[in-house]
Amino acid sequence: VKIIATVGELRAACDTARAAGKSVGLVPTMGFLHAGHRSLMGAARADTDFVVVTLFVNPTQFGPNEDLAGYPRDLGRDADVCRAEGVDVLFTPTVDQMYPTGARTTVHVAELTDRLCGASRPGHFDGVTTIVAKLFSIVGANHAFFGKKDAQQLAVVTRMAADLNLPVVVIGCSIVREPDGLALSSRNAYLTATERAAALVLSRSLRAAMASIEAGQRDASFVRDELETAIASESLGQLDYAEIVDGADLQPISRIAGSVLIAVAAQFGRARLIDNVALVVSPTGITADLGVIPAVEATPT
Ligand code: PAF
Repeated sequence: VKIIATVGELRAACDTARAAGKSVGLVPTMGFLHAGHRSLMGAARADTDFVVVTLFVNPTQFGPNEDLAGYPRDLGRDADVCRAEGVDVLFTPTVDQMYPTGARTTVHVAELTDRLCGASRPGHFDGVTTIVAKLFSIVGANHAFFGKKDAQQLAVVTRMAADLNLPVVVIGCSIVREPDGLALSSRNAYLTATERAAALVLSRSLRAAMASIEAGQRDASFVRDELETAIASESLGQLDYAEIVDGADLQPISRIAGSVLIAVAAQFGRARLIDNVALVVSPTGITADLGVIPAVEATPT
């Protein structure tokens, strides 16, 4: 893996790859890479010829009281992960490199960003869409890969690319889970053993919601109440939201039908965690993307 720290060098490396007829895949990350990121890299490797992973803890997507300063970082290990995954370029810019003249231009996706995480993290998605637009512009990727754990981020970035006619295909990859159900997140590193055990309530309550729906329940407020009660019963967790929304526009729904996203967020100690299940409910059946549990992880060397 070639480690690049400047925009100019990254642009040149991607230009060279494209000139050689290669398709370019982009995996944007904030580092502290785990098996979820590795699955994005694997998908990029399978779909494209030249894989760029970006590692940038983007300050503009953190609120003033959020965990920017303490966000977990381990560049050496992340480089090993990228090497093991056959990544071509790892881009690790400084804040000055990404925002040399500050940031007066913001990309804002309306409506999709108001609810769910957008309600408790004002400005967060503007930070995300602005940095992702910049990365799309620098890399010129054919395909860009995002995890479905950040379902709202995926919807917002997909909408931004469509609205701005950006020549990139945005691809969502399934949530990767620990064998006990915990969705992988760099922020899991903040959890104590007891908080980690408590955090399992998120995936457990989503599975219970799925079971209700599979048993025929179609009343969204009933299922939402069940989710809220389950999460609120966990004393170490502080519920942010439990919502059942339309899978495309993320607006609340009253009847569970069609493309549906069940999304939850809660704070456990220092870690604000999110999780979700995406399902399609039709008269002929239900399909759900509950995520995947990877086979034993190969050591990243
Ligand atoms: O999902 C993340 O890690 C970040 O929000 C992203 C997409 C890399 C933008 O900073």
